[in-house]
Amino acid sequence: RKVKRVPVEDFPPAKNDLLLRAARGEETERVPVWMHRQAGRYLPEFRELRKHADFFTMCQDPELATEVTLQPLERFPTLDAVIVFSDILVIPQAMGMEVQMVPGRGPVFPDRLVDPADLDRLNFKPDMEKTLGYVYDVVNLTRQRVKARVPVIGFSGAPFTLMGYMIEGGGSKTMSKVKAWLYCHPEASKKLLQALTDIIIEYLVGKVRAGAQLLEVFESSGGDLGPELYDEFSHPYLCQIATKVKAELRAQGLPEVPMTVFARNVRHEGALEKLADSEYDTLSLDWNILPEVARRRVSIKKASLQGNLDPCALYASPDRIRALVQDMVKGFGTQRYIANLGHGMLPDHDPEHAHALILAVQEVSAEMNKK
Ligand code: CP3
Repeated sequence: RKVKRVPVEDFPPAKNDLLLRAARGEETERVPVWMHRQAGRYLPEFRELRKHADFFTMCQDPELATEVTLQPLERFPTLDAVIVFSDILVIPQAMGMEVQMVPGRGPVFPDRLVDPADLDRLNFKPDMEKTLGYVYDVVNLTRQRVKARVPVIGFSGAPFTLMGYMIEGGGSKTMSKVKAWLYCHPEASKKLLQALTDIIIEYLVGKVRAGAQLLEVFESSGGDLGPELYDEFSHPYLCQIATKVKAELRAQGLPEVPMTVFARNVRHEGALEKLADSEYDTLSLDWNILPEVARRRVSIKKASLQGNLDPCALYASPDRIRALVQDMVKGFGTQRYIANLGHGMLPDHDPEHAHALILAVQEVSAEMNKK
C-alpha cells in the first residue's frame, strides 16, 4: 500500500464544522452548503486529469482521487464540505462484477445479473481491505490533505439502487428488469439486498475508521418503486444500514458520525415521516417537493433536511440563482438545514454559477439569522 494511514483519533476536528452541527441539530450561525457531484466533469481541472485516465482508474489511485476530491474546495474556498471522489458502483465491482464507465453512456455492466442463478457468480463476503482498501486510502489521504478546513463526507449506494444497476446492466428509464425480479423472485431479491446491506455496513464503518466525518447513503432509484415496493425492498434495508452502522461505530469505539439518506423521488404519504423516525440524522431531498412542505412533514425535532435546488436552476443568471436561494432558505429555515442541489452537478454547468449558489446560501442565511 502506498498510503500510510493516519489513525482516525489523531486527526484534528474540522475547524468549519457547520455541516456536522446542522446535521446533528445544533445551532448554526449560517447555513452550510455543498453540492452532490461537486467534483467532476463541470470542472476544467477535472477534465484535464480525466484526459489521461479512465474513470475507475482515477478512483483507484489515491493521489489522483484525493486531488479531485479537493478540487472544488481549492476553487471555492468557502465550501462547507468535501465528498470523497469515488462511485457507488465500486461495491458491485468488489462482489466480482465488471463495470465500465463509457463516455456519453454512463456505467455499463457487460455481464449483468439475468436470473437468480447468477447470484452464484457473486462474492457475498468480499475482503473489504483487499477489494476496497483503495477507497479507505482516499478517505484517509483526503483527511490528511484537507487539513481540518472542512468535514470529509463518505458515501455508499443503497442496496436497491445497486441491485438496479447490477440487474439492468446500467442506467434504465423503466427499471423493468430489476422490478421484474422484485415481482417474480422476491426471495432471491431479498437475498441480494441483504448481502448488499451487510457489505455496505462494513464499508461505511471502514470509511469512518479511515476518517470520514459524515456518511451519506444514495438511494437514487428509490422513486422508481411505488409505496408498497419501497416499503418492502428499500426502506427496511435503509433503516438497517443506519441502525447497524451506528451500533457498530459505538461497539468499535469509533466516532459516531451523523448519517444522511438521499431517497430520491421518494415522497409518498408517510415516507419522509418514517425516514425522519429512523436513525438517519438528515434527509436529503430532490427538487420535487417545496421546502416548506418538506419542513412541515419532517419535524425539526426529528431530522435535518438537505437540498433541494433543481440542478438546472444553475443555468440561470447569478442574480436569479440568488433569488431562488433566498426562497429556498426561507422555505427550509436556517436551522437544521444543509443547502445542496436536489440531485448532482451536470457536466455543462458553469463553475461560476456553482460559486454563485455557494455565496448566495452563505450570505443570505447569515443575513436571515441576524434578524
Ligand atoms: O463529487 C461527488 O459527488 C463525489 C463523487 C461521486 C461520483 N458518483 C463521481 C462520478 C458520487 C457521490 C457518485 C455517486 C453516484 N454514482 C450515484 C448516486 C448519486 C446520484 O447521482 O444519484 C450514482 C447513481 C452513480 C452511478 C453513476 N456514476 C452514474 C449514473 C454515472 C454516469 C453519470 C453521467 O452523467 O455520465 C456515473 C459516473 C460518474 N460518477 C462521474 C463522476 C465524476 C463521471 C464519470 C466520467 O468522468 O466519465
